[in-house]
Amino acid sequence: MTARYAVFGHPVVHSLSPRIHAAFGSQLGIAMEYAAIDATPEDFATALAAFADAGGLGANVTLPHKERALALCASASERARRAGAANTLTRRDGAWHGENTDGLGLVHDLTERRRIDLRARRVLMLGAGGAARGTAPALLDAGIDELWIVNRTPERADALADALGEPGRVHTRYWDDLRNLGAFDMVINATSAGRGGSIDLPFTLATKRTLAVDLSYGEAAVPFLAWAEAAGCEQRIDGIGMLVEQAAESFAIWHGRRPDTDPVFESLSARAGVLHTAD
Ligand code: ATR
Repeated sequence: MTARYAVFGHPVVHSLSPRIHAAFGSQLGIAMEYAAIDATPEDFATALAAFADAGGLGANVTLPHKERALALCASASERARRAGAANTLTRRDGAWHGENTDGLGLVHDLTERRRIDLRARRVLMLGAGGAARGTAPALLDAGIDELWIVNRTPERADALADALGEPGRVHTRYWDDLRNLGAFDMVINATSAGRGGSIDLPFTLATKRTLAVDLSYGEAAVPFLAWAEAAGCEQRIDGIGMLVEQAAESFAIWHGRRPDTDPVFESLSARAGVLHTAD
């Protein structure tokens, strides 16, 4: 029987994960099936259980199920617990084990692909939802100097800072304070504002040396990266690299081998470029 894997999300039809995992599988000669399963929040637990009953060995979990996924796990890695969310589930002894590869994926993309030294960086994280929670611990582990968290709803920024447990390095401010914070070495957009809305940010946050990173990709990354371009940031990165790297981490957990991510990254970036110029 072919080994079965899947990504769960809602919506999930546009997920690139099936393509990415299929490409990794053919690169390494690993036969498997990787499906996209759409499940509403109400149906997610049942759909995941049905998948396990049908022989599912591993699942990626995307919006909006990452927190619920962790709750459905019998065990979880320290990273997933710190993030409060799981994006990678593995069947172990008849139960799910949860991990979170988003943060490692981001750090891998920045340090290995882009050769960016994260140490001693003053970093601004915009947002305090799932994407911020998934990536903040890995950024701290990678040695950034300061993490400033600013969220539209300030209580969520405070909750994230508390969960990170590093008061010496992690600070929160109100959205209205953004114009008083000066410029950062790196500004990360971990909000979902680009998926429909616009984002209102002062140019004082950036200089031309500021690295601008949007954790989204495609259309959703356009408003923030357009702001970064207008602010003069020379280096602007969307979330395609992180997506491919987090997938490679999941793949390595399941199959014991980490694929070469460059060909997949290049083909997806070329496609995203086409999408951007087509609108
Ligand atoms: P995700 O998993 O993508 O992070 P989420 O957990 O729903 O999704 O979090 C969305 C994040 O985007 C939150 O930080 C949210 O701010 P609130 O906590 O105040 O809701 C942020 N966000 C969404 N729309 C935004 C907007 N128009 N401007 C600023 N922040 C926004």
